[in-house]
Amino acid sequence: MKEKVSKALNAQVDRELQAEHIYLAMSLWFEREALSGFAGWLRAQAAEERTHAFRILRHLEDRNARVELGGLDKPPADYDSPLACMQAALEHEKKVTGHIDDLYELARSEGDHAAEVMLQWFVTEQVEEEKTFTQLVEQLQRVGESAAGLLVLDRQQGERGGEGR
Ligand code: FEO
Repeated sequence: MKEKVSKALNAQVDRELQAEHIYLAMSLWFEREALSGFAGWLRAQAAEERTHAFRILRHLEDRNARVELGGLDKPPADYDSPLACMQAALEHEKKVTGHIDDLYELARSEGDHAAEVMLQWFVTEQVEEEKTFTQLVEQLQRVGESAAGLLVLDRQQGERGGEGR
């Protein structure tokens, strides 16, 4: 495996773990805001990010490439509103999509078919991730200042993501 490709994939392992860290911090914020449905959903999302990191990590190990972890940045602890928080999450996912697209291009240009196939899963996954976060942002926009609407949305998230808690 070319070092250029393995190093780029290594960086993505860190980014997925950073995403886990960010979503866990978001979950803590929602919990403090007494919105435990969103908190649980984000905790499940954080756990999913870890599985993304491990998927790439395993690929590197399977190919006898060096895996080295970098450091994590401190994620924001507070947000102005649930909408602001979810908008930040959506922006983060868009950045991840950009990185996955770049990695896919690199794997192709370097003729690394195995990495290319592995990354195809992520290309599809990012479509789903952006869709999910976009829907949440739109729902929160629709709810606006309505406390009752927010509680209904929170209960819905709790039903979807309860296993993350
Ligand atoms: Fe690992 Fe949310 O993408």
